Parts: sequence; structure tokens; C-alpha cells
Amino acid sequence: MARRKKIYEGKAKILYEGPEPGTLVQYFKDDATAYNAEKHAVIDGKGVLNNRLSEFFMTGLNAIGVPTHFIRRLNMREQLVRQVEIIPLEVVVRNFAAGSLSKRLGLEEGTQLPRPIVEFYYKDDRLGDPLVAEEHIIAFGWASQQDLDDMVALALRVNDFLSGVMLAVGIRLVDFKIEIGRLWEGDFQRLVVADEISPDSCRLWDIETGRHLDKDVFRRDLGDLADAYSEVARRLGVLPTNVTHSGKPRLIN
Ligand code: C5P
Repeated sequence: MARRKKIYEGKAKILYEGPEPGTLVQYFKDDATAYNAEKHAVIDGKGVLNNRLSEFFMTGLNAIGVPTHFIRRLNMREQLVRQVEIIPLEVVVRNFAAGSLSKRLGLEEGTQLPRPIVEFYYKDDRLGDPLVAEEHIIAFGWASQQDLDDMVALALRVNDFLSGVMLAVGIRLVDFKIEIGRLWEGDFQRLVVADEISPDSCRLWDIETGRHLDKDVFRRDLGDLADAYSEVARRLGVLPTNVTHSGKPRLIN
């Protein structure tokens, strides 16, 4: 069988040419990186968990009419997605202060924000993904004013959905990052949620105990990352309740 054409390899995922034009296969690796890849580890089972969790969130978003690139999961590590033109901005939504916001503004982690705050970071590893203002985005042509309005609306809908889903299983959605792509339909473009939604790109805190159930476990050396992700998956019903991370995660369909 001919080898598939690799389109792009990132820190945690690989994109391959899909079976039909306009599709890609997104493969989830076990690699974890932080601080612009200064810290790196391979975490057994992370790719499997993120593939399944991202499927869960994207399917839910599609079901409530929030468009995403997700088509279907193919196997343990791969999903079929629509090929989109990624807008070079990371869109971060914050409900509580944490991470870089806490550092920048001297806010104690966990402080509730007066309302969800949407921020844009320019995707450039060389520059360490700097925070940018709408002025920069429009002046440099990364997105138009209309795109920006649509991106904020999309990000807030994702926030409402994810916050509710997580709250229902006793988890606080502190913040998250999404990437947004342009899906071309003839001369018209639609903005859709792309990339992944997983504990790699969210801050998730247990409401009762404050336990971190996201990539901060790796960034800050707080314990076993796969255990934390398995806990999220178990609560969401993505993994059977008796799964612990003593072996490989088992999937239910
Ligand atoms: O580090 P910071 O506080 O700005 O991160 C905000 C949110 O965006 C966190 O949930 C983090 O996991 C996510 N993020 C990400 N990828 C990045 C930067 C931040 O997923 N490159």
C-alpha cells in the first residue's frame, strides 16, 4: 500500500492527506510539550485520550450548530477532518484568572473574571505566540473586522457549551484555546472550529478539590498527566468507570 502523504507535523499531531479532496486525517501523538517545546515528554496513551475527548467535544459542538472541522473518528489515534485554512491566531477564552493572565496582570489564580475575556495570540513559535490586539490583527491582515467579530462569537459559543458540559461533571472550565479555520465553499468562506479541543488546550479544575485535570499537570510537574486526562474522560462517559491508568486506556464506542 502506498504511504500516505504527510501534510504537516506539529508538536502533538500529524496531518495526513485524507481519502477525499478537502479532507485530512489528523493523527494524535503521545508527545507533550510546554514552554514553546523547551519541555518535552512522551506520555503513553495521551494521543488516544485526546483523540477521543476532542471527538466528544467537536461532536457536541456540531450537534448544537457550532461548525467545526470534525467529520468522524477513524480509529484510536486518528480522526477525519475537513481541510481548512487556519487563521494564524490562537483564540483564548478565560472565565477565571490563571496562567499568563495571572502573571501579566498580577491576578491570583482562580479569581473569577467579571465576564468571559477573549484574547488573541499570534501563532509564531519563533516569537513565542505573543498576545496581540485587534489593531495588529487588522493592520497586518491576519483577519478582517468581520472575521474577528465572527471569531469572538464562535469562541463564546464554544465557551458556553464547554463550561456547561464540564460543570455537569464537577469540573470548572478556567480557560481554553481554540484555533479557527476558513472553510471555503466556492467564493464564500465559513469560519469553523479546527485543530483540537482537549485537556492539552484547556484549564480544567475539579470543583470540589481544585485538582488540575489538564496540561498544567505536565507543565508544573503536578503528577501523572494520563491519569488526569483519564479522569476527565471517565467523568464524561468517554471511558468506562473502572478504568485507571495502570494499563493502556480502553475505549468504549
Ligand atoms: O498560558 P495561558 O494562560 O495564556 O493559556 C491560556 C489557555 O490556552 C490555557 O488553557 C492553555 O492550555 C491554552 N494554550 C494552548 N496553547 C498555547 C497557549 C495556551 O492550548 N500555545
